[in-house]
Amino acid sequence: MCGIFGYIGNKENAAEIVLEGLKRLEYRGYDSWGVAEVTEKNHLISVKKRVGKIGEANIDDLPASSFAFGHTRWATHGGVTEVNAHPHLDCSGKITLIHNGIFENYEEIKKELIRKGHKILSETDSEVAVHLIEELNKKHLFNEAVRLAFNKMEGLNALVVINSEENSFVAVRSGSPLCIGFGKDANYLASDPIALLIHTKEVYFLEEGEMAVIEKRKVQIFDSKTKKIVNFKTQKLNWTFEQGEKGKFPHFMLKEIYEQPDIILEIASNGFIQAEKAAQIIKDGYGTYLVGCGTASYACLAGSYLFSKIAKKHVNFAVGSEFGYSLDFLTKDSVVLALSQSGETMDILESVKKAKEKKAKILSLVNVLGSSLYRMSDFKMIIGAGPERSVASTKAFTGMVSHLILIAYSLIDESEKGRQILIKAAKNSKQILVSKEVEMIKELAKKIKSKKHLYVIGRGLSYPTSLETALKIKEISYIHAEGLAAGELKHGPLALIEKGTPCICFLPNDETYGANLAGAMEMKARGGFIIGVSFKPHEIFDYYIPVGDAGEATIIPNIVVSQLLAYYLAIELKRDPDKPRNLAKSVTVK
Ligand code: G6P
Repeated sequence: MCGIFGYIGNKENAAEIVLEGLKRLEYRGYDSWGVAEVTEKNHLISVKKRVGKIGEANIDDLPASSFAFGHTRWATHGGVTEVNAHPHLDCSGKITLIHNGIFENYEEIKKELIRKGHKILSETDSEVAVHLIEELNKKHLFNEAVRLAFNKMEGLNALVVINSEENSFVAVRSGSPLCIGFGKDANYLASDPIALLIHTKEVYFLEEGEMAVIEKRKVQIFDSKTKKIVNFKTQKLNWTFEQGEKGKFPHFMLKEIYEQPDIILEIASNGFIQAEKAAQIIKDGYGTYLVGCGTASYACLAGSYLFSKIAKKHVNFAVGSEFGYSLDFLTKDSVVLALSQSGETMDILESVKKAKEKKAKILSLVNVLGSSLYRMSDFKMIIGAGPERSVASTKAFTGMVSHLILIAYSLIDESEKGRQILIKAAKNSKQILVSKEVEMIKELAKKIKSKKHLYVIGRGLSYPTSLETALKIKEISYIHAEGLAAGELKHGPLALIEKGTPCICFLPNDETYGANLAGAMEMKARGGFIIGVSFKPHEIFDYYIPVGDAGEATIIPNIVVSQLLAYYLAIELKRDPDKPRNLAKSVTVK
């Protein structure tokens, strides 16, 4: 969701550096943006805000400065307008602020501030915070005013504040992530480490309730409750700058789809040490609960089938937003396996907090090293998919599934078997990506692009595959797609199938084949246009996409087909696959 980027250093083009930083955060999703900078000579703050995408916008009209920050806003309180965009100014124009999160008790504080004469121009909760700081600054030093204001704010928030008289950012967080980047004669601040890679790999992720005073050559961290100095250690990001760039691909999504075979091979070769440790924790525990949101939730569902099928192990599963209603089962012996690409999804963090209150053990599978979920977990596994910038998750999903396959096989001490099927899955995925299959998928996208609805069926492991396929198609092509357990067709959805309705059927070489084919036949009998994704052709298919068998790991090449279909549908329909409307990459609010 909202993005934050800040720079303080020697260079004179701070606003430009910030704008570039914000562009690298575009994938998080936003509807307006803004930059504020301070000119050192006269201590004046200049602000530029706009509605819409940054695109080719330039910032040349702002005077030279070496101290600036900016924000991409995803509207929550108040419409998408320039006034509501951040940074916000106080009445004097000397304090400016950007904010991520939701200031829950802003209304009462706003009334009080208006009574005291503050002029609040926007409809946002965020602007109230800058006036609150201004008010407190009348009696307290600036840093203390920020601290006191933050402590009065209810909810999960991250604030970055500048006082034009002082050469430092004051940043404080609870909930929303903030990462400090350490450069040479410069320091940076970002809501997401990807944006820092071009400048530095040395970072520190602010912990819950920590407050930082960031100067050009000095960073000090305090506990925002006790004011005590925190001795912190920086860490090195293990991603390269190039990994986070598009390279020769027209979109991040396509690049990330093509990276999958190599990522899966890497997990097959090096994933088992952590898989074996995870398996041991699951064995030692009593009851395992998988939790994830969006695409990660379908990886969890796939995990529940994999654990059952391979390891004969029952695991529970809930989406992050529902987890809180089913955690009465948790005890100190429970193991919660939390899956998240970003490690910042609010519903996951909340689930984990609640599970920790019950003293359950937290095992996480996350892609972003140092993210909030990573830091909150007792045992952390890294997905190893490299930076994922397209809003729609692709390689993180297949990465999660690959690790779950290894864990399931490790539970029965057969990790070599898991490794072998992953190698096959990587090979079969590559086959789809480099040969005629891509052309077949492009052709299919052309054929079905004008349809309003489409249906996807599967059984067993192909059920989460169907749900994820439908999600990918909805997310980026905006065609209504429904994923179903094939057995449910007769209980309602069949009423919607008519002549020409596209029906994608996953028919891998497993125990589901016959029953799923029956589902495909039911749809065919009602005029459905049957798209078979299978290891062998069948006469009922109107369109056939071959996918080689890789045992339980066939879910991986099957999903590669779905990702490509969703991508080419978006291209045919002239949608931007990397930045789907109304969606954000990191959902950091509830
Ligand atoms: C958002 C993204 C999805 C992602 C979900 C969970 O909705 O658009 O692609 O699957 O969040 O994100 P996480 O980072 O927790 O995996």
